[in-house]
Amino acid sequence: MLKQFLEQGREAADAALEQLLPPSTQHPTSIHQAMRHSVFAGGKRLRPILCMEAGRMIAAASGSPTGTLPAGIEQVGAALEMLHTYSLIHDDLPALDNDDLRRGRPTCHKAFGEAIAILAGDGLQTQAYEVLAQLACPPEARVAIIREIAHATGTIDGMIGGQVVDLEAEHKKPDLATLEYIHRSKTAALITASVVSGGMYAGANAKDIAHLRTYGQSIGLAFQIVDDVLDLTQTSEQLGKTAGKDAAAEKTTYPALFGIEESTRKADALVDQACTELEGYGDAASTLKNLARYLVERKK
Ligand code: IPE
Ligand code: IPE
Ligand code: MG
Ligand code: MG
Ligand code: MG
Repeated sequence: MLKQFLEQGREAADAALEQLLPPSTQHPTSIHQAMRHSVFAGGKRLRPILCMEAGRMIAAASGSPTGTLPAGIEQVGAALEMLHTYSLIHDDLPALDNDDLRRGRPTCHKAFGEAIAILAGDGLQTQAYEVLAQLACPPEARVAIIREIAHATGTIDGMIGGQVVDLEAEHKKPDLATLEYIHRSKTAALITASVVSGGMYAGANAKDIAHLRTYGQSIGLAFQIVDDVLDLTQTSEQLGKTAGKDAAAEKTTYPALFGIEESTRKADALVDQACTELEGYGDAASTLKNLARYLVERKK
């Protein structure tokens, strides 16, 4: 059931990305090929899926027949996936994590060289905002979505800030405050913005947004804890990215501070908290709750 739902979500996200990214024949072709190389390499599309499902839940709460997706919401999802893929391309660069394998393929800089990979990340970022500027929702919601996502990927408690502290914490004794800052910022912020922006697109009120934000923060942190655990417990083949890299780089991770078992317990507890946050939405929240569980049970 959830498997089928994830498959459908992936297909919707992929179709929107296909339509919204410049074709690989577009001049200058090298960068468009590089952008597509990294986007269409088999990502799970979790951020678009969470965004669309949050929109569906809010639409149901305001009276739409259950199951109706707000028209055009997959474009928000596609923009989120462009930003996420940009973050992965840059994360893999020699100056950051120096990885050769991503989504089962050579990383962007391995395939296209460092200069084009840096620019492909930049290009995905600007393309995302061009898409967001044209969303088919009321202008106030459009501006709120753009602000939300820009902040979540920025330097203050956002993705870039988290990446900075992640790099600066390498080879140092992990401490909880730094660890939480890294995980909340580099990963949970964009996951939170994904559910919040989906809700905004569907007309969420301030109370809805507060619930979605708390849900997103909890599953976002759980998601990165599990990413850290999988880095230790799975093979590169299974993950489609190099396993064991965190220990090699002495990264500040949950397992480094708490061990695998305690980290898994913490991720489970966060998922319970996230589900509690959606109690008021009844059956309309069941898919977001199932997605929360899936995030910690996943094996890649
Ligand atoms: C990997 O994200 C990077 C992190 C923020 C942990 P995902 O696990 O969502 O990667 P893809 O999109 O499925 O490749
Ligand atoms: C990356 O965290 C988070 C991003 C903002 C891309 P990681 O460095 O742990 O992600 P992976 O394990 O390489 O996918
Ligand atoms: Mg990293
Ligand atoms: Mg990395
Ligand atoms: Mg990782």
